[in-house]
Amino acid sequence: MKAYRASLLTFDAAGQPRFDTDGLLLTQPDEHGTERVLASGAHAELAHWLALPQAQGVQVQHWPGKVMVPGFVDMHVHYPQVDVIGSPADGLLPWLENYTFPQETRFADAAHATEVASVFTDELLRHGVTTALTFATSHPTAVDAVFAAARTRGMRLITGLCLMDQNAPDGLRNPPSAPGRGDAAEHSLLQSQALIERWHGVDRLGYAITPRFVPTCSDAQLQGAGELAARHPSVWVQSHVAENRDEIAWVRQLHPHARSYLDVYHRFGLLRERAVYAHCIYLDGDDRALMRETGTAAAVSPTSNLFLGSGFFDFAAAQTTGYRHGLASDVGGGTSFSPFETMKAAYFVGRMGLEQGGAFKPGLSLSPSRLWWLHTAGAAQALGLEGVVGNLTPGCEADFVLIDPQATPLLARRTAAARTLDEWLFALIVLGDDRAVEKVCLALPTMTG
Ligand code: GUN
Ligand code: ZN
Repeated sequence: MKAYRASLLTFDAAGQPRFDTDGLLLTQPDEHGTERVLASGAHAELAHWLALPQAQGVQVQHWPGKVMVPGFVDMHVHYPQVDVIGSPADGLLPWLENYTFPQETRFADAAHATEVASVFTDELLRHGVTTALTFATSHPTAVDAVFAAARTRGMRLITGLCLMDQNAPDGLRNPPSAPGRGDAAEHSLLQSQALIERWHGVDRLGYAITPRFVPTCSDAQLQGAGELAARHPSVWVQSHVAENRDEIAWVRQLHPHARSYLDVYHRFGLLRERAVYAHCIYLDGDDRALMRETGTAAAVSPTSNLFLGSGFFDFAAAQTTGYRHGLASDVGGGTSFSPFETMKAAYFVGRMGLEQGGAFKPGLSLSPSRLWWLHTAGAAQALGLEGVVGNLTPGCEADFVLIDPQATPLLARRTAAARTLDEWLFALIVLGDDRAVEKVCLALPTMTG
């Protein structure tokens, strides 16, 4: 058994926060060696556990003035885009063509992929992100590289081979199995199948079938991806949808018979539980209902949507419809790995009103505990990992972040003046960054020790 004492933030099943000023977190390893939460709550209520025989000799790690919070969950990020962050462009499509695709082409080189995967996983952990659903590139060795980097560090990571057999440059487009053969779609799906067998369920790793987005995927590839998803229900699906107006016009040209962009994925069997679509800005009421009915989740990426000028996610409609959604950095369209930056940008976006059908719909004020939930327990729920990560209630894997509310002079001053939990959380969201992440504890001991 391990025991940690500090302030403690957890969420109940309804997503409401619980804060124990003097909290205790008790963990013990399961049969696979993963530390799981045994009990968590007020020290005064749980201290008797420390008198139990199995607690004999347990040293309580005590961090007065610090706060244990669940590890953050990034629902959508691109590891090969570490070196694309902050590349300005006139919107998504020129950004992809001029910066992103050329960078991703470099991942044919396994040594480059390994170096970037190491930087990427270190950056996530440094910012308190302990679970991530990430894109890789269309090169199988690049998928291996990021799985290996996450495994060495003991973090939870989900990724997959990027499916893109059209409208992409040589060297990035999925190649056929041999020169001159026209079976790139089939070959990419066989490669995906082999990667599922190699990585899905190994330690804390999971596989995601990853059609990049409709314009870069042939019908045969989308069809095959849907069939693969049906054969592997525990595997994730990830893609992009309804991010940018030019992108949507392109999809309409390519698929004139589909009711909407989202409907293209639906027709190919790609909407289901554990399917995660980044952006979801330009959805209509029917699309949102389809998201809910199929159990599909949206990865809301506010810093990316602001940086690329894509638009504003409709938080009010998502909440009213009741479909799954959570927060994501979307680095390198997104500008930061920091969950604080992402939560802050989500707040700004929520505040914006939206023009709808000629009428103005006022914005809403997402509460700080709601923002925090959307990046921890809510994001985990959207990924189908409720009760596994994103929280510190009994049974959860014990990934946690130790926050120092005094990391900067202004943060110390503002958090000290907070009168309520919401005020305190808001101060951290607005003023916090990686300096407030004092320590990150993962549930799985790392292979490097
Ligand atoms: N749509 C297709 N590919 C991408 C990508 O890499 N980033 C973003 N933001 N949107 C995409
Ligand atoms: Zn993305």
